[in-house]
Amino acid sequence: MAWNRERRIKPLCPKSGSYALVTGGSEGIGLEIARVLATKKWNLILVARNVKKLNKVASEFKEEFSIEIEILPMDLSVPGSGKELYNKVTNLRVNSDLRVELLVNNAGFGAFSNFAEEKITQIVAMVQLNILTLTELTHLFGKHMTERGRGRILNIGSVAGFAPIPLAAVYSAGKSYVNFFTRALAYEMNPHGVGVVNLCPGATKSQFAKRADMEESLLFKLPGFVQSSRAVAEEAVAHTLGAAPSCVCVTGRLNQIFAILNPMLPLSFAMQAGHVLFV
Ligand SMILES: NC(=O)c1ccc[n+]([C@@H]2O[C@H](COP(=O)([O-])OP(=O)(O)OC[C@H]3O[C@@H](n4cnc5c(N)ncnc54)[C@H](OP(=O)(O)O)[C@@H]3O)[C@@H](O)[C@H]2O)c1
Repeated sequence: MAWNRERRIKPLCPKSGSYALVTGGSEGIGLEIARVLATKKWNLILVARNVKKLNKVASEFKEEFSIEIEILPMDLSVPGSGKELYNKVTNLRVNSDLRVELLVNNAGFGAFSNFAEEKITQIVAMVQLNILTLTELTHLFGKHMTERGRGRILNIGSVAGFAPIPLAAVYSAGKSYVNFFTRALAYEMNPHGVGVVNLCPGATKSQFAKRADMEESLLFKLPGFVQSSRAVAEEAVAHTLGAAPSCVCVTGRLNQIFAILNPMLPLSFAMQAGHVLFV
């Protein structure tokens, strides 16, 4: 089978009833992806835990962009929350022609810490949110997209998933899963008219570094290295909605250079470099 199976995908523009579902759409990269989509007249379903922030974004976007917005406050690190979210979206469809045609699996968090000393609840929540809920949502919404022969799935991986990173063992392994899972899925789903994209940002300005206790790390201090959430979002949306999107979108020039060099580096070097940058 030829890799140019991708070429069957046409650019995706919203029609009446088209919605984009963005997890983690209240802050950071997810918020900016939602904003870029709103400028393109996509109706939105935004999911995050903080209902106040979701309400603020919804009222701001409704006024500025004249689009339909649904907010669904949920904790996606709870087992079964993917199915619960899917059921909530199904309920929204009663009396409307709402269809999720773009799924953005963005919600996620990292922790930079010694694995043995980390709280097990934190580790399990990270695996649940970054891996399991993302997979569950991809399956539930992806099935409808392939049946309709139309749709896009944008899964947020990371350059942190290119190599195992000591002190970010669970995070880097989780993002490696997202990177590999999404690329394989693109091959499966593209012939059915569904574009699947693995976004790989590097260090990006958002609440992520603070939450991961990484604000003082070399990675987030290197001049010219940290991208804005808006820049990442613009690259991501342009790539994802375009014709025949390739399955990987590494954002930022420096990250793209790293992505090319990475397979040539000995694993031990890549691990050490990751460790140094994350400290
Ligand atoms: N920033 C970076 O340097 C960087 C680099 C590479 C990849 N990434 C990836 O990019 C994605 C977005 O990160 P970000 O930088 O935008 O981080 P962020 O600023 O912390 O935003 C995270 C978003 O996800 C939501 N969220 C977090 N935990 C959640 C949960 N349990 N259930 C539902 N929603 C939840 C947050 O809202 P609530 O807190 O209200 O729930 C927020 O809207 C993540 O997958 C991250 O791994 C980030």
